[in-house]
Amino acid sequence: MKTLSIMLLISAALGGLSGGSAFAAGNPCAGKPEIDAKSITRPQGYKPYAGDHKELAKAGEKLWNDTKLSSNGFSCNTCHQNHGAFQESFAKPFPHQVAMAKDKAGMKSVHLDEMIQACMVMPMAAKPLPWNSRELAALTAYTQDMQKTFKPGAKAPANPCSAKPANPCATKPANPCATK
Ligand code: HEC
Repeated sequence: MKTLSIMLLISAALGGLSGGSAFAAGNPCAGKPEIDAKSITRPQGYKPYAGDHKELAKAGEKLWNDTKLSSNGFSCNTCHQNHGAFQESFAKPFPHQVAMAKDKAGMKSVHLDEMIQACMVMPMAAKPLPWNSRELAALTAYTQDMQKTFKPGAKAPANPCSAKPANPCATKPANPCATK
């Protein structure tokens, strides 16, 4: 019920916008008041691409470093190298609450693949990946493996949200890295 009313609210608020990734342009760090939660919410009857986990994770590692996934020259690794930009929530099993998805899309809890879509749409300023794509499954598998070695509190020195010269979000008005 909650989900339904949130969806209604959001579609009402975004009434004039066409579907898909309406905000996927420009500044990855720009604070949009809302993003279309629908575009990063698992569709009904969702069936993720099924494949061998190891193979998917290997493909996912390539995508993780691929700046072509974004429209702004970022790769996932730009921000998340050595667990950079991950908050403590990343240590919890999915689904869980992630501040960025809650603040920007009003989502109280996200699955891992939804969070990947959230980063595709927000920091990567791109379109969500097709839900049944091998790419999404690959990134999900790779990120799952990465989560196993993540330790909250052990902040990586390479966190782009704390490093001065490399912080891609530093001078932007509504830094997604600022959400705590
Ligand atoms: C410009 C920086 C940036 C880029 C690029 C980026 N992310 Fe993120 N990502 C963040 C930030 C900041 C958070 C933390 C949000 C929070 O905790 O509120 C985050 C959170 C996440 C989380 C959730 C962590 C948790 O707490 O559970 C996942 C998973 C994730 N990103 C995956 C990806 C993937 C996959 C890509 C590439 C497709 C990517 N990100 C690209 C900045 C980025």
